[in-house]
Amino acid sequence: MGSKLWSGRFTKSTHRWVEEFNASIAFDQVLAEVDIQGSLAHVAMLGKCGILSSDEVAQIEQGLEQILAKVREGRCVFTIEHEDIHMNIEKMLTDEIGPVGGKLHTGRSRNDQVALDMHLYIRMQTVELVRLIHELHGVLLKQASQQIDVILPGYTHLQRAQPVRLSHHLLAYASMFERDMERLIDSYKRVNLCPLGAGAIAGTTFPIDREWVAERLGFDGIYDNSMDAVSDRDYLLEFLSIASIIMVHLSRLAEELILWSSDEFNFVELDDAFCTGSSMMPQKKNPDIPELIRGKSGRVFGHLIGLLTTLKALPLTYNKDLQEDKEGVFDTITTLTGCLKLMAPILETMKVNAQRMRQSAEQGFANATDLADYLVERGLPFRQAHEVVGRMVLHCIREGKGLADCTLSECQAFSPLIGEDVYARLGCEQVVEARRSAGGTAKEQVLSTLSQKKEKCDKINQWISGVWKFTASKTP
Ligand code: ARG
Repeated sequence: MGSKLWSGRFTKSTHRWVEEFNASIAFDQVLAEVDIQGSLAHVAMLGKCGILSSDEVAQIEQGLEQILAKVREGRCVFTIEHEDIHMNIEKMLTDEIGPVGGKLHTGRSRNDQVALDMHLYIRMQTVELVRLIHELHGVLLKQASQQIDVILPGYTHLQRAQPVRLSHHLLAYASMFERDMERLIDSYKRVNLCPLGAGAIAGTTFPIDREWVAERLGFDGIYDNSMDAVSDRDYLLEFLSIASIIMVHLSRLAEELILWSSDEFNFVELDDAFCTGSSMMPQKKNPDIPELIRGKSGRVFGHLIGLLTTLKALPLTYNKDLQEDKEGVFDTITTLTGCLKLMAPILETMKVNAQRMRQSAEQGFANATDLADYLVERGLPFRQAHEVVGRMVLHCIREGKGLADCTLSECQAFSPLIGEDVYARLGCEQVVEARRSAGGTAKEQVLSTLSQKKEKCDKINQWISGVWKFTASKTP
């Protein structure tokens, strides 16, 4: 009964079901390395401030380094008897170096300790996610420049709307992922604050130096209120919100790949390495991976709603409810990492059926707006031009042909404003090239967007290398 680190106040041992129910070690063991990293900084500060002797600090540091080595080699055995990662490690420490290990927790509570661990962990994962999105973004830019002359129908309501460059379509996703990287980078400043030193709730009686610990751990600053420090989980909500938006973007891209690789579209062929077969139908090649990416968005949204619900109306400060912040966040990281790691090579290896895209862009009256614009240039109000072309489209549908297949006199029966020069406006290429407005699909516009995106890409790369030294999972 006396083996629990907090057993002093208790006269009975824990009910056997409570131990299992209360423990978080099954999932918080992923925090082992950052927990030790935090403890090493804490104990060094206790030494620097004269709270522990240098000999005590040296013994604790050495013990922690040994445990860290074991963690990295996967040699640690964690037990639910010691509930969570913090107490498991403290127990290992005292087993390793004796009662002096018990001095590590001076001036610290598990409440500020777990907050510190989560900050260190999310900080590292934030950078890793930016890096993965950056890679995916790079693949999109590469495909966009390689496919610069490929034209496909752009869709609204999943009906052919206007022809666009494939590069333009892909760069729309690059823009989404840029915003995602920017969101993560912005959230980093709120993640990169140190809660350690808040104690259980109100601070500590020991003359600690919070700024020193924060700086040693690479934080930009400290929480200015100990009660907020131990109970704040906003940064996790923010992380889950950003993750949800990323999943929205990935699911939209996945959906397009699923549609495009169907026989109905036949716009792309996904590489065999990223598809699977059917157990019954020998002819099948299924886009399981994009489907899974699309499907996995649900669990990430669920984790966001889950944590919002956990936090709602929770009184200050630490409540055990907060232990529920972890599994959803960890699962989100695994999910997102997996999706991003797969989406990049799927896009990189997909074969584009440019001919089929082009054929499809030439059908479906994707040039109708251009004919209306032509009439507007000749003085007809747009609303009337729209009406005229609408009637021409109806005529063509009945005749089973395209607008450009109408003879000049056929056209002039609808509007005398139409002249011989109309035909030079209706080809796919011309329709695309006519959209030279900023952010449009004409080649010069797409190329200029592409080069702006490359610059952005370089800036983000610089950010990653700037923060990486603090976030690589090694002891500073
Ligand atoms: N395992 C706990 C958690 O994840 C650590 C903090 C426990 N603090 C406490 N006062 N029980 O939230």
